[in-house]
Amino acid sequence: MSKTIIISNRLPVQLQISDGGLTAIPSVGGLATGMKSVHSGGESLWIGWSGLTDEDTPESLESEIDRALSEHGCAKVKLTAKDVDGFYFGFSNRTIWPLFHYFLEYTEFELDFWNVYKSVNQKFADAIIAHSDENDTIWVHDYQLMLVPQMVREKRPNTSIGFFLHIPFPSYEIFRTMPWREEVLTGLLGSDLIGFHTYDYERHFLSSVRRLLGLDVSFNDVYLDHRVIKVDSFPMGIDYKKFKDAALEHNKNKEDQRSDLQIKLDNHKASAPDTKLILSIDRLDYSKGIAKRINAFEYFLNKYPEYKEKVRLIILAVPSRSNVPQYQLLKREIDELVGRINGELSTVNWTPIWYFYRSLPFENLIDLYTSSDIAWLTPLRDGMNLVAKEYIATRIDKTGVLILSEMAGSAYEMNEALLINPNNFEQQADTLKRAITMPKEEQMARNMFLQNRLERYNVEVWANEFMNSLNRKSEGDETFVSQ
Ligand code: ADP
Ligand code: G6P
Repeated sequence: MSKTIIISNRLPVQLQISDGGLTAIPSVGGLATGMKSVHSGGESLWIGWSGLTDEDTPESLESEIDRALSEHGCAKVKLTAKDVDGFYFGFSNRTIWPLFHYFLEYTEFELDFWNVYKSVNQKFADAIIAHSDENDTIWVHDYQLMLVPQMVREKRPNTSIGFFLHIPFPSYEIFRTMPWREEVLTGLLGSDLIGFHTYDYERHFLSSVRRLLGLDVSFNDVYLDHRVIKVDSFPMGIDYKKFKDAALEHNKNKEDQRSDLQIKLDNHKASAPDTKLILSIDRLDYSKGIAKRINAFEYFLNKYPEYKEKVRLIILAVPSRSNVPQYQLLKREIDELVGRINGELSTVNWTPIWYFYRSLPFENLIDLYTSSDIAWLTPLRDGMNLVAKEYIATRIDKTGVLILSEMAGSAYEMNEALLINPNNFEQQADTLKRAITMPKEEQMARNMFLQNRLERYNVEVWANEFMNSLNRKSEGDETFVSQ
């Protein structure tokens, strides 16, 4: 029987060795949380990196690792510490990530990183070949594995291969600065179908293909040798039901079933019923605009001092890629900003910012989503931003205001949110005021539209649309006559 092979760098769980045994912890990030729902519902094998390097892993644990992963429907690609350095911390997160998020000043073009990226992509391609046969469908995910489609194509010319990019594809003017731009495009074009979150990313990609490779592009088809590659946009949804049900369950909890975090949130509400909670949740990443958001919050409190003691900003920042220097600098910057603002503005009864730097269990995310009056998400660039969608899905009574950056892919589908430019402090201060004072009826009217759309276009529909489009193409019922 043919199966689907999902392949990404990050698996839905990360393995850690503690006290000589293995622990599997859920991965954070849109790719892992989104695809987890798709994977758990179907017949698929998910191949990726376990989170452990060869050097971390005593031989005696190898079979236990395989067993632990297979319980989650996963299989591993083995990576050395040198691989992880050059491929993950290097090319993926010091070259592609900053470049594709328009942070040219952070982008490092290092030949050594590129060489390791190529060799590690080959390891992933080899793992696919080892775990699959010709009839299986291969679905490759994200920027860490852009060479994999072509590497698999060379060995399996007739296999159906799809690729989905979870981050933005930048404009041609940005992309063309990369020394290995042609190789990256050729790697991606090993696919039959290439998917992006938005039409703009798709357009940027096609423009790069045309201008850098000189290939024929017609509408969203690329003609290469004897193949036609289809390019399309598929905005990723969330597991709407999971978030809605979790919020319903949460609301039923009795007093003594509340988490410590929920008790803290409830005590806060009880002691200051008029105070609004403003929530932001992100991986600690410069693309998320966390430092700017904190500055904008200070600006807001200075512009509208009547809201001092009437609002509190909760920042949940999840540790991410902490070996990359820019992330270490950002961590220090945020620590200092929060310390300074809380030091300057706190009163006996009020701390303006609650800052958590950790990953929290799912239940606590739900505590935060359901207890916050406003979600304020200000990425400077973001492929999609699923947190925005998750917040709306948990608002059972339809109240709550979402303030969302125009630079997030999700903004294209969430017009009823209050959309802002994260670089415009004046606009953000006014929008915060508007959110704080927005009548309940208006909140509910806006969220009704958002919820209906999120429920309909959930992550399962997203995955099905991608797979159906890939299957249709392989079955040849579309026009793709070679040129
Ligand atoms: P990115 O993929 O860039 O991290 P997204 O907003 O698209 O951004 O996805 C983040 C995902 O990580 C969401 O599904 C969210 O639920 C999850 N997540 C965020 N913060 C935490 C946390 N503290 N603990 C666990 N999961 C988290
Ligand atoms: C984004 C990327 C994913 C990545 C996730 C978490 O969502 O698109 O590919 O897995 O961030 O980042 P990490 O580096 O921890 O895998």
